[in-house]
Amino acid sequence: MIAGYYQFNPVFGNKEENLERVRRVLLGHDFELMVLPEFFATGYQFVSGDEVRALSEPVPGGPTTEMLAEVAGKKSAYIVGGLPEVDDGRYYNSAVIVGPEGFVGSYRKSHLFFEEKLYFSPGNTGFRVFDTDLGRIGIMICFDWFFPESMRTLALKGAEVIAHPANLVLPYCPQGMPIRCLENRVFAITANRTGSEERKEGKRLTYIGLSQIVSPGGDVVLRASPDEEEIGTRDIEPSAARNKDINGYNNLFSDRRPDLYEL
Ligand code: ACM
Repeated sequence: MIAGYYQFNPVFGNKEENLERVRRVLLGHDFELMVLPEFFATGYQFVSGDEVRALSEPVPGGPTTEMLAEVAGKKSAYIVGGLPEVDDGRYYNSAVIVGPEGFVGSYRKSHLFFEEKLYFSPGNTGFRVFDTDLGRIGIMICFDWFFPESMRTLALKGAEVIAHPANLVLPYCPQGMPIRCLENRVFAITANRTGSEERKEGKRLTYIGLSQIVSPGGDVVLRASPDEEEIGTRDIEPSAARNKDINGYNNLFSDRRPDLYEL
């Protein structure tokens, strides 16, 4: 499977321009699974409820999901990307997965980061794995990675590839994800953004780039720069994530001791 990330620096609030840019770039590249950043078409640093209301969309049916579905149809591929979602008067930090036949599903971020808590509701979908003709794709969003339960849950649900839209500002994720992948024996594709936003005086957020693809062995097979726009792909074999054996005696899943874990 040709899988990858597209990292770039979206312009806050200019959804039309950001969507058109992503559309053009994706149509010009070959891939079967592409992961886009969190909030890739809106920008990240919301400073009012009015902005959240103006930029959020129903899922499916909004312009972001529609554009992604159109591109996925044309490329016969799958795309995962993040967007602010509105549903029944509540706002969520969500991600959609679309495929050759259109909308496949969505996920709402479980662990909200920093001032997201001012504007968004914690996700209520739980962690979801989508059975596609490429393999089993699980989704988590940015800060979810910091909670090992997120990827463990996705792995226990059968995920082979974790699609991870992100807007990372803390430095830890690029070095942390190899361990998450190793302890769960899954692939992960983190698509982060670049640039910075200071839409509140004195509260500049600088996004760290370094999007990456990590293997079930914990190897970084591809990593982007900290600050350049980059689309990166690699040929990966999702079925390599199915073997949870460490040796003839140890298996990552069957050796677990949930009776001892205080969950
Ligand atoms: C984050 O969750 N956007 C850091």
